[in-house]
Amino acid sequence: MLRRSKGDYRVNEMNGIRTKYFLACLFALLSGLAVAAPDGQGLYVEHCAACHQMEGEGGIGLPLIREKLEDMSDSYLFNTIRLGRPGRVMPAYQRMSDAQVKAIIGFLRRQSGTTGRDYDSSPVDGDAERGAVVYEEHCVRCHEADGSGAGEGTGVTLSRDRTFLVMPASISNPGFLASVSDQMMRHVVIKGRKSSGMPSFGDEKLNDQEINDVVAYVRSFAEKVSPPESLDGDERPTHVFQSPYSFEQTVKNVKAALTGANFRIFPDRFVEQGLVDEFSVNTRQVGIRFCNFNVLYGMLKIEPRLGVVLPCRITILEREGGEVMLVVPNLRVVSRWFNNDELVTLWDRMETTFNDIIDEVTL
Ligand code: HEC
Ligand code: HEC
Repeated sequence: MLRRSKGDYRVNEMNGIRTKYFLACLFALLSGLAVAAPDGQGLYVEHCAACHQMEGEGGIGLPLIREKLEDMSDSYLFNTIRLGRPGRVMPAYQRMSDAQVKAIIGFLRRQSGTTGRDYDSSPVDGDAERGAVVYEEHCVRCHEADGSGAGEGTGVTLSRDRTFLVMPASISNPGFLASVSDQMMRHVVIKGRKSSGMPSFGDEKLNDQEINDVVAYVRSFAEKVSPPESLDGDERPTHVFQSPYSFEQTVKNVKAALTGANFRIFPDRFVEQGLVDEFSVNTRQVGIRFCNFNVLYGMLKIEPRLGVVLPCRITILEREGGEVMLVVPNLRVVSRWFNNDELVTLWDRMETTFNDIIDEVTL
């Protein structure tokens, strides 16, 4: 198709150019008149796919697949995108317009072929105290006593407890509780989540009252769980140190120190795994990527998804005057990104900045 129209232009070039020009003007006119709708797929790819994957199959984030999306109301999706999950990896998208958030939802609906359910907003008639007993018996082994989920994390690819198909989300998280209605929770409990290993509690496994009670109990987490404190907003993502040694000696020292501390310096062949990289070696500067599986596991315990994108990298630079600098990521700042929509962008920016510094000297 494309090739043929290209050929047509060549046959009658002037005419083709004129036609193109005319079409371009017409298009500009029309798109000026119509209010351009936000591009849901583009937004999804830009903001969500890194964690939820292109087809919603889940990775760092939970699967967003048909089986689940058909149980979610649009308002659950809307609030989840807006509020995120404070203290977890799911960012809050507060600077998007309502139209953009809705465009993403529209894309998820089209992609999954679902329309979503509407739940009535009435609270369940349940008793949280009785619900605590049901929770203890039927839910605690997967969702933990505090509702945070067994592995402090979610997703299908990472640090997943191998007894789970999917790590449960935090059902005590303020972002979750503010997004979900009692009736939607009831529905999930009755139906379960076959694809992720959450059993169905319908079919008289639990009676109606017990389901209402356990929903009331999960709802009551809202009073017990305080939102995580926010970090200081005015921090830089890197620390810069001066080395008293020569460039060569500093590189040697850093490598020796890393090796001595049981860090593994990654060779090229791990590039595909995303964790690792080349040494970006140039005569007067070097970026060293490294990892220590103990440290990594320690971090994964605190925040399972942090390890995947953790920039275990020290950059060593020699300045004109012979001054040698060590540039080290500020992990406090990095970890804060996990709670806002700048995660992906800032991460990229940091990568780019690091690479730019290296490129500059290389050229
Ligand atoms: C940095 C990774 C990351 C990004 C980016 C991200 N999410 Fe998430 N998302 C998660 C994680 C992790 C969870 C599970 C929350 C938890 O751990 O409690 C989640 C949960 C969700 C849920 C709730 C799923 C459920 O089972 O109820 C929805 C819906 C969702 N995300 C949609 C989105 C959309 C839409 C975007 C883009 C606008 C997005 N997410 C961007 C990581 C991410
Ligand atoms: C065998 C483990 C298991 C048991 C038992 C279990 N769940 Fe789950 N639950 C999960 C998993 C895994 C998910 C995440 C499913 C997904 O996102 O694909 C989940 C999801 C949920 C969700 C939806 C959270 C969200 O973000 O979409 C709710 C609500 C929930 N469970 C409540 C309960 C309650 C209440 C009980 C007890 C009556 C219970 N679960 C028992 C594993 C379990």
